[in-house]
Amino acid sequence: MEAYSKKVMKYFLHPKNVGKISNPDGVGKVGNIRCGDVMYLYLKIEKNKIKDVKFETFGCIAAIATSSYITELVKGKSIEQALKITKDDIIKGLGGLPPIKIHCSILAIDALIEAVYDYLSKNNLPISENLVKEHERIKKTLEMVEDKHKELVEIEESVL
Ligand code: FES
Repeated sequence: MEAYSKKVMKYFLHPKNVGKISNPDGVGKVGNIRCGDVMYLYLKIEKNKIKDVKFETFGCIAAIATSSYITELVKGKSIEQALKITKDDIIKGLGGLPPIKIHCSILAIDALIEAVYDYLSKNNLPISENLVKEHERIKKTLEMVEDKHKELVEIEESVL
């Protein structure tokens, strides 16, 4: 098994911006279809800038490291700048991820997209066609993950 980079381990062991924001301006909840892991991202936005950001991730080492890293990347950025961040930026910034863990980095990007979408829609602000499309994809994935979780709970209850 390929090891994680030093930077990934640093962010996993000492994650930044963990937790919730009270009265967030935008919340993103996403699920990973491959493993069922879930992440929440909370945003505080002022004058189109991300003033504060926190996350809660129920997932693996890579998911926690990428979540923590993205919070550092987006803090202080405008919404438009934040949405330009790609999974490759995250992977590169963390010194790489083992190939089987690449999907974990998508969780952080998708959570950011969802939190921004939530903020724009709550405030009746214009939303690009691309963001709407991304939101639909992420929402569908989350529904599938939640259905899977329900199924697992039912199976567990039936055998206990
Ligand atoms: Fe689920 Fe990494 S294995 S996010």
